[in-house]
Amino acid sequence: MRKTQLKLNKSVVCITFLGLCLVAITGCATPTTSASSSVVSSSDNLYQTLGGKAKIDEIVDNFINEIAFDQETYAFFKDSNMQRFKEKLSEQLCVMAQGPCTYTGDSMEQVHTGMNITEANFNHGVDLFINAMDKADIPHNVQNRLLNEMAKTRKQMLYR
Ligand code: HEM
Repeated sequence: MRKTQLKLNKSVVCITFLGLCLVAITGCATPTTSASSSVVSSSDNLYQTLGGKAKIDEIVDNFINEIAFDQETYAFFKDSNMQRFKEKLSEQLCVMAQGPCTYTGDSMEQVHTGMNITEANFNHGVDLFINAMDKADIPHNVQNRLLNEMAKTRKQMLYR
């Protein structure tokens, strides 16, 4: 009787264990799938994810609009050729997003020298750029990927 009970108990333990294994496997399978798909989404082509050149141009147009209505940042651009800025920034963002473009503008050091851009000026410019991306309906995770690329050029334009 005891032996049978023990056997039964063992079976129950085994079945429960198998069940747990299955849950563990299934449980693991789901995050593994989503982890691998999130790896795919962060290693895919940012240019395509953004929506290509049309979307980049939309962001740049929105950004110029933000600059135009912002006293602090507009002060830097008041004598600039905005048509040129639009073209060069669009090319540069395209290159930063690994798109099929060539940047034909001047180096970031050359362009921003003499402006004495402070960290606060820079951060404020980034806020305007975020507004521009929001208005172009760019999802926040995609925005972060572009901002991450832009941040790499930060040192080339501060306090020059
Ligand atoms: C990551 C941030 C930035 C990027 C990627 C960037 C990129 C560029 C590019 C591509 C150009 C055009 C270059 C050319 O004409 O050959 C440019 C011009 C300019 N940038 Fe930036 N910029 C950044 C931040 C800023 C900030 C924070 C300011 C000022 C607050 C600023 C002020 C200007 C001005 C005034 C021009 C026009 C210069 C001219 O008239 O020749 N930029 N920038």
